[in-house]
Amino acid sequence: MTYKSSTIKSKWKKTKWLLEESHLKQYVPATLPFSKGNLTSMLSSYSTVFFKPTSGSGGNNIIRIKKKDGGYQTQYNTVKTTYTTQEKLYKGLKRFAGKKDFLLQKGIRLAKSNGKPFDIRVMVQKTNKGSWVSTGLFTKVGKPNKVATNYNQGGTVEYFNKTMARSEFNSISIQQMEHKLKQLGVSVGHNFDRHYKGFKELGLDVALDQSGKPWILEVNTRPQFYPLKALKDKSLYHRIVSYGKQYGRTK
Ligand SMILES: Nc1ncnc2c1ncn2[C@@H]1O[C@H](COP(=O)(O)OP(=O)(O)O)[C@@H](O)[C@H]1O
Ligand SMILES: [Mg+2]
Repeated sequence: MTYKSSTIKSKWKKTKWLLEESHLKQYVPATLPFSKGNLTSMLSSYSTVFFKPTSGSGGNNIIRIKKKDGGYQTQYNTVKTTYTTQEKLYKGLKRFAGKKDFLLQKGIRLAKSNGKPFDIRVMVQKTNKGSWVSTGLFTKVGKPNKVATNYNQGGTVEYFNKTMARSEFNSISIQQMEHKLKQLGVSVGHNFDRHYKGFKELGLDVALDQSGKPWILEVNTRPQFYPLKALKDKSLYHRIVSYGKQYGRTK
């Protein structure tokens, strides 16, 4: 069963859309296309930088770069490598990238729940009247020792309130964050509509830093939510599907 909703693969294209609007730009971590010059400039400003494929998905092929005394340490999946110079690091990344385009993005130190890093998916869907609704929030709790929280990387999908209750945030700020994240989802929907026609659904991947500030890591135009079906409480899964049916998506 297929359904119609526009898709844009390039994370760079979508990130630039967000960066064009000052009210959204503040939620986007510094992002630049991978090049030798941009690597130098990102590493001079940030102690952790993510290196990710411009057209990637599922948390695949992501490298986290950390500045260390006397060099740089990368982590790919669970494998760590040390480079003594930026030149060697650049060559290593270049070889890894091959002919594919990559992005450099300021690393966000993810907030933790029960000691594990997590990020948030904000699901945004259009009603048949054409208005955007943030239909649900859920979290992806990362597997320890991995750089990506994705379900495909061993992350666990949970209800927002459960994850947040086990975080360091208090219940008042959790409620405020929920409200703010939902507003952010709708704002991104409007932003995307201004750039391209035919979006019916979007999925924001949002990191919270340790102060609780949200950072949009990427916007998915074919957001998956099937892992929610395996949870005991299937109400969120059913809610998303019921909105999805308005534009022909059934799972
Ligand atoms: N800038 C970043 N700071 C911290 N973690 C990040 C950053 N970028 C990506 N990640 C981690 O990697 C995961 C996958 O990155 P994402 O940009 O969503 O690409 P994908 O399309 O592969 O899901 C995120 O959910 C997050 O856990
Ligand atoms: Mg993602």
